[in-house]
Amino acid sequence: MSAVPTRPEGTAGGGPVLSVRDLVVHFAGRRRSVVRAVDGVSFDIAPAEILALVGESGCGKSTIALSVMRLVEPTAGTILSGGEDLARLTGRRLRRARRRIQMIFQDPFGSLNTRRSVYDTVVEPLVIHGIAATREERRARVNEALTLAHLTPPDRLAASYPHELSGGQRQRVAIASAMVLRPPLVVADEPVSMLDVSARAGILRLMMDLRDRLGTSYLFITHDLATAWVVADRIAVLYLGRVVEIGRSTDVVAAPAHPYTKALLEVSADEERLSTDEPVAVLPGEAPSASRVPPGCRFHPRCPRYAALGQPEACRVADPTLGPAPTGAEGHTVACHFPLGENP
Ligand SMILES: Nc1ncnc2c1ncn2[C@@H]1O[C@H](COP(=O)(O)OP(=O)(O)O)[C@@H](O)[C@H]1O
Ligand code: SF4
Ligand SMILES: [Mg+2]
Repeated sequence: MSAVPTRPEGTAGGGPVLSVRDLVVHFAGRRRSVVRAVDGVSFDIAPAEILALVGESGCGKSTIALSVMRLVEPTAGTILSGGEDLARLTGRRLRRARRRIQMIFQDPFGSLNTRRSVYDTVVEPLVIHGIAATREERRARVNEALTLAHLTPPDRLAASYPHELSGGQRQRVAIASAMVLRPPLVVADEPVSMLDVSARAGILRLMMDLRDRLGTSYLFITHDLATAWVVADRIAVLYLGRVVEIGRSTDVVAAPAHPYTKALLEVSADEERLSTDEPVAVLPGEAPSASRVPPGCRFHPRCPRYAALGQPEACRVADPTLGPAPTGAEGHTVACHFPLGENP
């Protein structure tokens, strides 16, 4: 039976599915300014692992996602996957590598072509990459992907058009079309933030279920730390193009070491209580801008701890690098001169 799900290709060997090192993406801004969208980011994603990237709007999340897909050009750094550096591939080898990483976008209304049936959308990656030679094979692969995405009965759903579907169903179509190639890695950029609250949990559960059943890894992007905590094994908190804290989700949420993580946590708890989706200001003060990155610790102009400690000079002059967090938990690191939880 061809519909039995198999583990994705390229996950043998046990090494990371994706290994990003010192990724820099700078854009030309207005009046010859430089937009430091991504400013030296490193992380790994293991097979069947969900890593969440969390941070406010403008901190570089989508730019990281698009660089991994090579839809924007990295300025520097390496993006290792399947033994190749995606940042340097071109032509055929880039096209082949792209099979292994699929993306789910935020907007299920904008990302689906309204004139194409669900079948046409889901079959497209197979056609582009020349996989599944016969019509029957393609039909079987599409039905399998629709079933995996809980779009049943698959034959009926395949014949439908986006306008006949709810936002949640459209996002399931996007997931089916990402999964039809059985990629080892899926990049999901705010996949539920444009959905009704009622549709969100189902989509998140589906993604986690696919991880459990197929061993799919995810780079899962969200502005909401509570969502990251629900979905992800590990969380990387981004601030102005840098990872300021990374670790197992439970460690980061139970004992945030960076003052920014703590602020995100408070907003997230608040949002839950008010059940609103209005963007909430994480902290008072001027919104950060990637074309005006502050010297020293880039968070210092907004940092409550900097203020509480009497504005120590170190925060203004020295850019902190990632080091072990006070929890001592495995893989928990923080970029702060005075992390929370130290010297109680
Ligand atoms: N193509 C581009 N040209 C210039 N600036 C950009 C471009 N894409 C993103 N930026 C800027 O880079 C920063 C990070 O953007 P983005 O990655 O979209 O953040 P996020 O997804 O976290 O909201 C922002 O300041 C944004 O304005
Ligand atoms: S280094 Fe200083 S300014 Fe930066 S987060 Fe830590 S306490 Fe705040
Ligand atoms: Mg974004």
